[in-house]
Amino acid sequence: MLKKIAVFTSGGDAPGMNACIRAVVRAGVHYGLETYGIMRGYEGMIEDDIQLLLPESVSNVIQFGGTILKSARSKEFTTPEGRKAAAEHLKRRGIDGLVCIGGNGTYTGAMYFEQEHGIPSIGCPGTIDNDLYGTDFTIGFDTAVNTALDAIDKVRDTADAHNRVFFIEVMGRHSGHIAMNAGLAGGAEAIFIPERIDEFETFITRYGSKKRKKAFSIFIVAEGDEEGNAYALAEKFKKVYPESDTRVTVLGHIQRGGMPTANDRILASRLGAHAVKALHEGKRSLAVGVVNNQITFTPFEEAINRKKDINEQLWELATILTR
Ligand code: F6P
Repeated sequence: MLKKIAVFTSGGDAPGMNACIRAVVRAGVHYGLETYGIMRGYEGMIEDDIQLLLPESVSNVIQFGGTILKSARSKEFTTPEGRKAAAEHLKRRGIDGLVCIGGNGTYTGAMYFEQEHGIPSIGCPGTIDNDLYGTDFTIGFDTAVNTALDAIDKVRDTADAHNRVFFIEVMGRHSGHIAMNAGLAGGAEAIFIPERIDEFETFITRYGSKKRKKAFSIFIVAEGDEEGNAYALAEKFKKVYPESDTRVTVLGHIQRGGMPTANDRILASRLGAHAVKALHEGKRSLAVGVVNNQITFTPFEEAINRKKDINEQLWELATILTR
């Protein structure tokens, strides 16, 4: 029977992480568990930076972006020595279960940790990139898309006023989920994502052959696009269309902050509570997710190694509408 669990956030922060932490602590109370918060992800685990979280410790946090537990990407935890130091601290404190909130690197750390030291983990998908297998949506993705959309709408005003072409770069280190969704919702004329290759040549031909009534254009580029980032694509575009008044806007970390949307708060609450329920029931080494609006569990190994593709129906729609 578990008695004490700990929760932490690791990797890039995502809006909704606080709602998830809150759900873990409050679900912990429901299942009769004591819950601890580990500061700065695996770094805090190695440094024994751990504190008891009471239900009131997580009051008035559901609406905030960032993470009250802070986050980090720990190099030391990738070494067996780092993981050993962390395990010693947890065992001394009697912590016998973990809820980790983060992305692929977070799950990988938790999987090795359990294999080496036997402390079970359940992972909650927390990343704005939405690039984790085993869940339709990750915590923070919906907020990031809405933040990008708000910026796209604003750029559209000035693009229209000056008859300019804008390449807007959104986040997504290896994935185009934010680009595709923000591009679709923002009425972009083209979307460039790493999951679909050679889009740029097709686009250049299509753009030139169009009878253009409107003089401005909005193109969305995922930062990880295989053909280059927004600056690189804008340069290629200007070579073919030197008469265009072309600008680049990189949205960057603005997409990682802000108040989480209702969807992200609800998703984070569901995932956090189900992670604790799973630990309580003796489940381990699993990532909790929501697929077709149902809670699902995917082994860490599968969640880490399988690539989540973009939604093909949405991509088809995007190719029809971005004309
Ligand atoms: O993984 C989330 C993410 O926001 C990516 O989209 C982005 O490439 C990366 O993190 C940025 O990381 P950092 O904040 O370390 O620069």
